[in-house]
Amino acid sequence: MILQTHADTQMPLRVAAITDVAEGIRSFELVQPDGSELPPFTAGSHVKVQTPNGLLRKYSLCNDPAERHRYVIAVKRDDGGQGGSLSMHDEVQLGQTLPTSVPDNAFPLVENARSYVFIAGGIGITPVLSMIRSFGELPPASWKLYYLTRSPETTAFLEELKEPALKRNVVIHHDLGDPERAYDLWPVLEKPNAGHVYCCGPKGLMESVRDMSGHWSRSNIHFESFNEGGGVKADDKPFQVKLAKSGREFQVPVGKSILSVLREHGCDAASSCESGTCGTCRTALLEGEADHRDMVLYPEEMESQIMICVSRAKGERLVIDL
Ligand code: FES
Repeated sequence: MILQTHADTQMPLRVAAITDVAEGIRSFELVQPDGSELPPFTAGSHVKVQTPNGLLRKYSLCNDPAERHRYVIAVKRDDGGQGGSLSMHDEVQLGQTLPTSVPDNAFPLVENARSYVFIAGGIGITPVLSMIRSFGELPPASWKLYYLTRSPETTAFLEELKEPALKRNVVIHHDLGDPERAYDLWPVLEKPNAGHVYCCGPKGLMESVRDMSGHWSRSNIHFESFNEGGGVKADDKPFQVKLAKSGREFQVPVGKSILSVLREHGCDAASSCESGTCGTCRTALLEGEADHRDMVLYPEEMESQIMICVSRAKGERLVIDL
């Protein structure tokens, strides 16, 4: 089968190492086939990878940005997903090439912060690990990581995070799949300060961090999601989106975002994370009621704004200011 290369995965990288880093989590080391340096990246960056079965997936880079010879990603196997992670786990072989994008960063580390709090749920550790690794032996500020996982067996990079140099800054908590055992983050977020909070993990974790941090300065709380396009819900329905400036109107089917439909029709719209966390695709909503699926908008903004990379319509039609 010949697969088309997506427009933004123009860099074929060779798989130089495959390592199981936890139960159901596999890391892949990607290098230039000719051994040359890779384009630089900053902590918190991600790349898009075309999986062997032709899907396009976004993965955070988890290695130290000082490394120029490799990108390291970690992929969690999701048996209930759309097949991208299964293809990575079951089909990728050592030595094969994977079409990959240049790195982009929708979750950048603020320089000169007074302190950093990292909250990682499960595979959400990957961008955070790159941030911590970028600190080296002389962190620019105090930092603390709260790493929340199901069990020791499913906890990636556990040994590294238990090393003496990191251990005092790392809290690792396993809930054993029991919501009653969820880690209480309220003592961490109760008193706002001038530090920055970075959260990456399942939507439920990010929503609870957002709810608990409403009294913080908005610019000090940062989210990263792997839920590209907002995911699909069982009761999703197609809807119409009308562009007020041109009068053009398109149908947005189930499983596609407004942003991807606009792109298919040649309409230009700015984006970065494409998972509802960075705010780049914020668009004024002129008519209709949105089904908001982002982590950016606050309640008072939801009637008049929409993140077109993830959010959908509650009714049959939206009119947006594009
Ligand atoms: Fe980041 Fe939409 S592109 S919120």
